[in-house]
Amino acid sequence: MGSKNILVVGAGSGIGRSLLEKLNANPEYFPIGISRRGRPLEESFERGKNYNCNLAEPDQIRKISSFISERWEEIHAIYFASGDGLFLKIEDLEWEDLQKHLILNLSAPILLTSKLLPLLKKGSLLCYLSSTAGRQGFSGSSPYCASKHGIAGFAKAIREEVKDRGIRVTTVFAGAIDTPIWDGREGFKREDMIPASDAAIFLESLYSLPASFNQDEILFLPPKGVL
Ligand SMILES: NC(=O)c1ccc[n+]([C@@H]2O[C@H](COP(=O)([O-])OP(=O)(O)OC[C@H]3O[C@@H](n4cnc5c(N)ncnc54)[C@H](OP(=O)(O)O)[C@@H]3O)[C@@H](O)[C@H]2O)c1
Repeated sequence: MGSKNILVVGAGSGIGRSLLEKLNANPEYFPIGISRRGRPLEESFERGKNYNCNLAEPDQIRKISSFISERWEEIHAIYFASGDGLFLKIEDLEWEDLQKHLILNLSAPILLTSKLLPLLKKGSLLCYLSSTAGRQGFSGSSPYCASKHGIAGFAKAIREEVKDRGIRVTTVFAGAIDTPIWDGREGFKREDMIPASDAAIFLESLYSLPASFNQDEILFLPPKGVL
């Protein structure tokens, strides 16, 4: 049996980078990542490498989709771990910042799903990183809550669309994980958060568990709960 082709969207830092490293440690997987700081597409196609794609640009999403389709006949799992935060009082919101945020957190994973879905077969996995902010509201986080609820809603619909093909769709409502997304935010203790390498262990298991059941929505938190 050939190796399992796994795409980590947003493998430049944080959860995605740790997940790519974790997957790459398993010789049965052929994982690659995509993000802005990835290597140029002209370089050799190798397992464990992160390739360049700015997900804010729809043309780059189309280009990376073709790049992947030309190299892989099948994708066994896609983890959507890109995104950013937009944390502010709603009165301070600027239209441009809102558009940028929604494109990255919502439109980009939707377009990428649309382009790559033909490569997914029975038993494969689509995993979307939502957040506790995708289940409840937090003051000073309204655009982020909207985008994280939005991706969970998208995943619900896609699950219905692909269930007859045996494709699994998991939404992870993750609690605080120690990554650069928290940089500059006051009042949160990094030592209370889940290390990104631990989150990667859990995320990897979503694919490696038997394909006979679908873990459709999962909440995980650090022991101190919602921080
Ligand atoms: N950390 C948490 O507590 C937590 C909890 C729940 C959910 N999440 C979600 O997990 C996801 C990953 O966040 P993180 O915590 O790992 O933060 P992070 O370290 O800031 O990771 C963000 C990732 O997105 C990529 N990215 C950002 N802008 C991009 C762009 N324009 N095009 C392509 N890639 C882009 C980054 O890579 P480049 O910089 O190389 O582009 C990086 O890999 C986000 O969706 C976040 O909402 C995080």
